[in-house]
Amino acid sequence: MGSSADRRVIGFGTTLRRDAWWVELLPVIAVLSTFGIYATFRAFEGKFYAWGPYLSPFYSPLIDPQHHWWRFSPALLILAGPLGFRATCYYYRKAYYRAFFLHPPACAVSEGGRGAYRGETRFPFILQNLHRWFLYLALVFLAILWWDAIRAFFFQDGFGIGVGSLVLLTNIILLTLYTFSCHSLRHLAGGKLDCFSCTKFGPPRHTAWSWLSRLNERHMLFAWVSLFSVGLADLYVRMVSAGLLKDIRLL
Ligand code: FES
Repeated sequence: MGSSADRRVIGFGTTLRRDAWWVELLPVIAVLSTFGIYATFRAFEGKFYAWGPYLSPFYSPLIDPQHHWWRFSPALLILAGPLGFRATCYYYRKAYYRAFFLHPPACAVSEGGRGAYRGETRFPFILQNLHRWFLYLALVFLAILWWDAIRAFFFQDGFGIGVGSLVLLTNIILLTLYTFSCHSLRHLAGGKLDCFSCTKFGPPRHTAWSWLSRLNERHMLFAWVSLFSVGLADLYVRMVSAGLLKDIRLL
């Protein structure tokens, strides 16, 4: 227990930092807000999600597109998987806690008198611990999106390459880098171990852990580029499907 002097309330934003610490919050607010608005619009739109061999990643896997038993947008049936994975991601948590909740606003910057810090031990933030389970789900989604990306090279007249094929391929590569750089996956491979060589499957686990650790160092980068790529891949399919853009066939 600290002294009363330790516990006195320091005003919001008080800091000894001399840099413009608030600047880094602005792109996070701008990008996450724009993505959130666009993704919500697209999830509810329920059309322009497929063209030729292309399927938007927002709608994959495509469930009940003929509306036999589900009258709303098919994207709403699968939204919870990718959304839950991103929303509970360790990196995004840091980003949106700072940018939207100002809790705390930045490193070494006071958030004012908010009472005791409880971390993620109470509802609703305790639900962030579901990240490991969302990871398992994300791996299933990843396999399906790889299948979609491969299918994007097979047109009615056979194998071919369109701009859309490359867009979907780039997107799944970036999503794979994001998923495989996940902290939970790294922990799954090598967490809680004091000694790899004393453990069953130690050597292959060590190899996997080493590779995942290298990817993990760039998790923030992959988090952002894959967010852009998934949004742009959907936008591309939407534009082509709606007739606003012509897909160029390269081969
Ligand atoms: Fe970011 Fe798992 S920690 S996806």
